Amino acid sequence: MSTSSIKRRDFIRRSLVAGGGLTILPTGTLFGANGPNNRLNVALIGAYGRARAHYATLHDENVVAVCDVNALKLPYAMKEFPKAKVYEDWRKCLDHPGLDAVLCCSPDHTHAFVANWALNRDLHVYMEKPLAITVNEARTVRENYLGRKEKLATQVGMQRHAQPNFNRLREIIRDGVVGNLKEVFVWGNRQLPRPGYLPAAGPVPSTLNWDLWLGPSPEHPYNPGYFAKLHGNCLSWNMYWDFGIGQMGDMGSHTMDLAWNVIDAELPERITSSSSESINADVTPVELTTAFVFPANDWRGRIQCTWYQGGAMPKSPSQWIDLNNIGHGAMFKGDKGSVIADFNRRLIIPEGNDADLTYFNRRSEADLTPDLGDFQKQWISACKNGNPAETACNFEYSANMIESMCLGLASYRAGAELEYDRKQGAVTNVAGANEYLTKPYRNGWTMNG
Ligand SMILES: NC(=O)c1ccc[n+]([C@@H]2O[C@H](COP(=O)([O-])OP(=O)(O)OC[C@H]3O[C@@H](n4cnc5c(N)ncnc54)[C@H](O)[C@@H]3O)[C@@H](O)[C@H]2O)c1
Repeated sequence: MSTSSIKRRDFIRRSLVAGGGLTILPTGTLFGANGPNNRLNVALIGAYGRARAHYATLHDENVVAVCDVNALKLPYAMKEFPKAKVYEDWRKCLDHPGLDAVLCCSPDHTHAFVANWALNRDLHVYMEKPLAITVNEARTVRENYLGRKEKLATQVGMQRHAQPNFNRLREIIRDGVVGNLKEVFVWGNRQLPRPGYLPAAGPVPSTLNWDLWLGPSPEHPYNPGYFAKLHGNCLSWNMYWDFGIGQMGDMGSHTMDLAWNVIDAELPERITSSSSESINADVTPVELTTAFVFPANDWRGRIQCTWYQGGAMPKSPSQWIDLNNIGHGAMFKGDKGSVIADFNRRLIIPEGNDADLTYFNRRSEADLTPDLGDFQKQWISACKNGNPAETACNFEYSANMIESMCLGLASYRAGAELEYDRKQGAVTNVAGANEYLTKPYRNGWTMNG
């Protein structure tokens, strides 16, 4: 990174840390909250599709570079950010002079690569979910991030985390509404069955750089089926092992977050998966159940959290309640009752003879956790305010969660219950399972470059 960029960034941070003085300046002044000298120089990687959800936030910053491998997608972003320099290869884009930050919306198989390369260039990063698609990718990003967390702000696009229900669930479970927390269940009903990689169906359009789209992935022939939609294609490619991790990374990134935010889990010590589907070398399973066992921590005992996808479902705590009515949800079971939740609702079900809730000390309104506010802007503020680690879904929190999910897929592929050495990142009881903690990449692509 250039010295001028570092100086400018330090200036932005010092200005904002100096505090209220600056924020009360009228907007539009040179150093006000979004005056020209307080704006981040941002690169947008992946110009369209999911990127549309970020255009509004980016309008308050300087988008100086836009990168896409599909020339037909660029005009949408260039209309929004006409002064940006266009790139086709994200590796070159990350060396754009004077960059402060990167917001990345390219497909999942590029995420850990872009994240590592950006961190290694001292750039703040907002990465769309999932942060990684293998255990090894997640661990590498986390390690890189932890070495720089005092200076770089990171966020993974799990934006539902900003729903106040996330705070309410954490509070009521921690405050004992279900008594002692015993077990957690999380599920998602999205089903995207695919038979296998698509056959060659060329030619590749002249507007698409298929080689760069594949990027680090092993070679596959082009097929327009990977690009079936105009506005966002993740559901066209995220079931294939080389491009994604199916529902674990897709809705799993959002729904597991409901539990993750409550249970302070870090990494599992034991992982067991089962599926009615036999293993397909091309595609991730539709239907899958994975039980993770997490060690005890300072506020709860050892706990099992089970993920169900594609039709697998936990048992309802009551015959009055059909959990199938909740497409993506979580259930927290304790020795005094259960809480069932989706992203913005929760249902408290006390159980047993002492199910009178008298044991539960409801916290006062003044003690409620403040709303997170705008999720993308939380990252922008963290880039500027001298507290970069204070984003809700930073690369430590998010890497732990996705590493766990990837371990579920490793257990499925190994066909075995796995014991996991969380420190070493290795399966200790089934040596062959360790091959599923990483994946092959094409020559010439470095994940931690
Ligand atoms: N947070 C959410 O709720 C949410 C919602 C939808 C998608 N997503 C995530 O956003 C990402 C993008 O999803 P999408 O549906 O927009 O996908 P997409 O296939 O439409 O791709 C998005 C853009 O990235 C471009 N692109 C592809 N490969 C690239 C590369 N190597 N370098 C630069 N640009 C590249 C595409 O041409 C396209 O313009 C995925 O990781 C997906 O999981 C998140």
